[in-house]
Amino acid sequence: MITHNTEGEGLNAPNYVQHAGVLEWVSSMVALCKPAAVHWCDGSEQEYDGLCNLLVTNGTFQRLNPEKRPNSYLACSDPSDVARVEDRTFICCEEQDDAGPTNNWMAPALMRQTLKPLFDGCMAGRTLYVVPFSMGPLGSPIAHIGIELTDSAYVAVNQRIMTRMGRAVFEVLGTDGEFVPCVHSVGAPLRPDSADLKWPCNPTKYIVHFPQTREIWSYGSGYGGNALLGKKCLALRIASTMGRAAAHDGAPGWLAEHMLILGVTSPQGRKYHIAAAFPSACGKTNFSMLVPPAAFKGWKVSTIGDDIAWIKPSVDGHLRAINPEAGYFGVAPGTNFHTNPNCMASLNRDVIFTNVALTDDGDVWWEGLEKDSGSLPAHLVDWQGKDWTPARARETGAKAAHPNARFTVAATNNPALDAAWDDPQGVPIDAFIFGGRRSTTVPLVTQAHNWVEGVYMAATMGSETTAAATGAQGVVRRDPFAMLPFTGYNMSDYFQHWLDMGTKLGHTGVKLPAIFCVNWFRKGADGTFVWPGYGENMRVLKWMIDRLEGQASGVDNGLGISPAFDEIQWSGLDFSADDFHTVTHMDKADWAQEITLHAELFAQLAHHLPPALSATQSALRQRLAA
Ligand code: OXD
Ligand code: MN
Repeated sequence: MITHNTEGEGLNAPNYVQHAGVLEWVSSMVALCKPAAVHWCDGSEQEYDGLCNLLVTNGTFQRLNPEKRPNSYLACSDPSDVARVEDRTFICCEEQDDAGPTNNWMAPALMRQTLKPLFDGCMAGRTLYVVPFSMGPLGSPIAHIGIELTDSAYVAVNQRIMTRMGRAVFEVLGTDGEFVPCVHSVGAPLRPDSADLKWPCNPTKYIVHFPQTREIWSYGSGYGGNALLGKKCLALRIASTMGRAAAHDGAPGWLAEHMLILGVTSPQGRKYHIAAAFPSACGKTNFSMLVPPAAFKGWKVSTIGDDIAWIKPSVDGHLRAINPEAGYFGVAPGTNFHTNPNCMASLNRDVIFTNVALTDDGDVWWEGLEKDSGSLPAHLVDWQGKDWTPARARETGAKAAHPNARFTVAATNNPALDAAWDDPQGVPIDAFIFGGRRSTTVPLVTQAHNWVEGVYMAATMGSETTAAATGAQGVVRRDPFAMLPFTGYNMSDYFQHWLDMGTKLGHTGVKLPAIFCVNWFRKGADGTFVWPGYGENMRVLKWMIDRLEGQASGVDNGLGISPAFDEIQWSGLDFSADDFHTVTHMDKADWAQEITLHAELFAQLAHHLPPALSATQSALRQRLAA
């Protein structure tokens, strides 16, 4: 472990750090944040174990029963710090117009003035961890490097799971490689005579991105996407601006997307790769680890990523994608052997759990696990440290685990991990899927007629909100490309970038993936979900592959091409033609209303809105009214 007192000893960077820019930057941040010590993370197992022990000593971590859950820990956060804070997330570019109407904006100079006093001395009494990480396989042409300075050991250990973290990153960086500087503080300086809190944080929170200088500054929260800055901040908000900045003249640029990536292999051994965008907590992790139903003998689904995809055109004529992450930071509640057996197997050992409940025998529990065991535990300690019993839960509605409780686990724990998940060249993408959580209107699956109509479908996606974003449940919001909280620039310019990529790739002979839109969440008249979801989504995947192979002609539902009932392989599932009608029919009145809502979204985004999308809307309105 490399821990040094900053006073008198300088930074004492390890000798393998030879990058003057890094040393200068760390030095200036040490001068600003005034930590008591600096620790350069090398990413070793020994370091991980040491930091976990420290977190146990500080009370942040509780070690779980090693018989039940080897090498695993539970952290419970402050009740005020349980989710991403979108209203405190800022895009600070010079012109407000470049952030657009869907992002919070502040002028960079003003934001710097605001942050400076907050960061001045914010790490007093604490250790500053220097966390070097690669988003994507080290040295991959699709990967990028970040360095996070944080005063949270919890962040450092999570980053070791979620990214390729440690010494090797400096070897790739060399003396002058590019990196995204990320500064994070929980905003809770520690006085020498006072004991630390179990979950230090600050009621004032700022999650700030400077896209032009490619910097990230995060203050006040220790939770998830607010604090693990490689994930939403770098891999989506900053990377989306990098992908667009790389587009000029004939160069298409690239895409940083809120997408899982999966491989699907047919019994004949033909393999396809699909990237799918769904808003937070719509089952992305489940879909990326799908287990095909028994009737799909010989079919195999494998995971490349569960949350984020970086997609670049390659000279081999494909769009190739990597998962920039190395682990999963997934929502625990609702995960069980029925919804996601591969995920359950991943969670057997070496996991950090946050905000789940503790069982009396030192294991973890969350809502949804009763479906596996057939009963509720008689007693738990809930995520807030209170006694939980089924009787109390019935009386008060108290949840044992917070609805946004998470697990952090290495991708290599996943039994369905794709052999190419770590391939620096990425995998060739054959299709994109866009899906929202809609109880009405949007059919089970539709293939866009063409790229522009696919971009339209993605741009107008809507979803009912979840606790991951707001703590509130059930309100429908438009979530273009599932990127509403994650696009680091003007949303209309982002649409244009997608359209331009289509045109430019078309010219250079790169094969454009097919685009599908799905909705697993349609409800019947009785208010319950009609489509069984989970492994049964394989039936929809297979139809998509049939489309790619020219084996299914489908029917035109006005929006695009959707399956005829007998084009779906139904064996092993009792799903009637009536049920199918419930999840696929296009209701004229619903769609008239839906297009009106699309028009409202476009009015909000009118300033740079690509004319091709308005034209698509007019054509669609006419087609669907006919
Ligand atoms: C996530 C999210 O944590 O989308 O992946 O909120
Ligand atoms: Mn996500």
